[in-house]
Amino acid sequence: MTKPVILTGDRTTGPLHIGHFAGSLRNRLRFQDSHEQFLLLADTQALTDNAHDPDKVRRSVIEVALDYLAIGIDPAKTTICLQSGLPALAELSMLYLNFVTVSRLERNPTIKDEIRARGFGRDIPAGFLCYPAAQAGDITAFKATVVPVGEDQTALIEQTNEIVRRINATAGKTILPEAQAVIPQFGRLPGVDGKAKMSKSSGNAIALSASPEAISAAVKAMFTDPTHLRIEDPGQVEGNVVFACLDAFDEDPATLEEMKAQYQRGGLGDGRIKRRLDDILQALIGPIRTRRAELAEDHAYVLDVIRSGTEKARSRTEVTKREVVEGLGLFVL
Ligand code: TRP
Repeated sequence: MTKPVILTGDRTTGPLHIGHFAGSLRNRLRFQDSHEQFLLLADTQALTDNAHDPDKVRRSVIEVALDYLAIGIDPAKTTICLQSGLPALAELSMLYLNFVTVSRLERNPTIKDEIRARGFGRDIPAGFLCYPAAQAGDITAFKATVVPVGEDQTALIEQTNEIVRRINATAGKTILPEAQAVIPQFGRLPGVDGKAKMSKSSGNAIALSASPEAISAAVKAMFTDPTHLRIEDPGQVEGNVVFACLDAFDEDPATLEEMKAQYQRGGLGDGRIKRRLDDILQALIGPIRTRRAELAEDHAYVLDVIRSGTEKARSRTEVTKREVVEGLGLFVL
């Protein structure tokens, strides 16, 4: 029996953080045995909003690969591959761009949000506006049917499926399967500063490679409830980043519910909830950091994982590209 195929990935813009872990990384660990899983080191997509700093994009390839391996992604089960090493992805996305309109790209909610967040104004890099078609290229090249991503990516999967339907309709047969997004149940982790999203670029993230001191400092400074001044005051759980993180990582939901109730009634201080979170994050990140440091010493091994994964992905994606080219009825040499 063939396993369902997963394709997902991360832009290589820096080390991954606990928001990624709570979001999609944890799901990817679960899927290693039940699915055929490919993880894409999305360096060409990273360039769509980092053209000013290709050096960072290159360096981050290793950082993200180290994060994958350190959290327990097993290269014997999951294929880790480099986007820029897979020409079929770029070729498919060039074809797909003829099946989407500029106005559709501009209406994509993910793109709209990101354009606003990055302050592009009218100076939107064309590659950025078009990256939904590139992401469709990524997903379809592997014929992936399952895509574990953060909540913010669902609009991209929807647009992928629109492209898939158009390609299939034009070909007059089903060449490409539609894909389904797998979204984490608890939603997205806010930044340590209370902003809606934890992200490296906003400087409000706790990296999976953070030192014990950096973790403690971030937890200590974490946004809670600014009106909760004294321990006996009632406090807000909603919008409180410490509780959002506890929701994501605390494995004792009964105690957590009691703590929330006590916090809301009054009588539970920020110090206590922060200490609990600090312990939990130290226990989560500690082993990842240790493993990551060991792997970082073995550069040749990490390179080999990426190289052999990319080779495996290359033959797979070339087959799909050829099927699409033939299916569309283009000239084939
Ligand atoms: N857009 C994803 C992110 O921001 C990265 C990515 C690139 C991706 N290609 C993908 C995710 C294909 C899922 C499927 O991190």
